[in-house]
Amino acid sequence: MGRIGIFFYSRTGTGRMVAQRLASVSGWPAYEIRDVSPRVGLQGDLRCVLDVLLKRSPPFRYDGPAPDQFEHVVLIAPVWMRALAAPMRSFLTAHGRLIRAYSVICVMSGYGGFRAVDDMVRAAGAKPRSVLLLKESDVLAEECDASLCRFREQTLAAPGPGGWNDPLLPSIDV
Ligand SMILES: Cc1cc2nc3c(=O)[nH]c(=O)nc-3n(C[C@H](O)[C@H](O)[C@H](O)COP(=O)(O)O)c2cc1C
Repeated sequence: MGRIGIFFYSRTGTGRMVAQRLASVSGWPAYEIRDVSPRVGLQGDLRCVLDVLLKRSPPFRYDGPAPDQFEHVVLIAPVWMRALAAPMRSFLTAHGRLIRAYSVICVMSGYGGFRAVDDMVRAAGAKPRSVLLLKESDVLAEECDASLCRFREQTLAAPGPGGWNDPLLPSIDV
């Protein structure tokens, strides 16, 4: 099994685009975390909001390798209500302790990314090695390649687990 794997959740495709682009510039395999019941339309929006507000852990589908098969995992997820998208939180609650070291990419309209990262830290029980926050508009305009290449270099430079006192690698916020 490789050293680095990408684990992503995406409801409307932005995070998936980022995962595919990062996989293509890095050669790292990407694995998708999916909803058991798809979040379609207004009802889907409402479920997203309620899952976050009520701190629910919705069921998810994941058929890939366990995170402990990798030295480092890159987690990609959207921001919902200035918080981590609930399916990724569910995934981390179930598998987070198997993660040896990780980095984060959050996609969002424009605000709340660092609070979503805080949610990841709580669920995984460890700090990420690096963080990249991407605006959906930049992802859709395909203007993120430079950021993703820098993120790849940072991840390769510091793949191992970080301690609580280690500085976070420089965050890139486009
Ligand atoms: C219920 C809901 C809440 C959201 N809350 C935020 C938010 O607080 N901040 C933000 O910048 N974007 C927010 N967004 C926008 C998403 O983060 C953004 O559209 C993201 O790119 C979606 O990723 P995806 O296409 O991979 O699902 C929200 C979207 C939804 C559906």
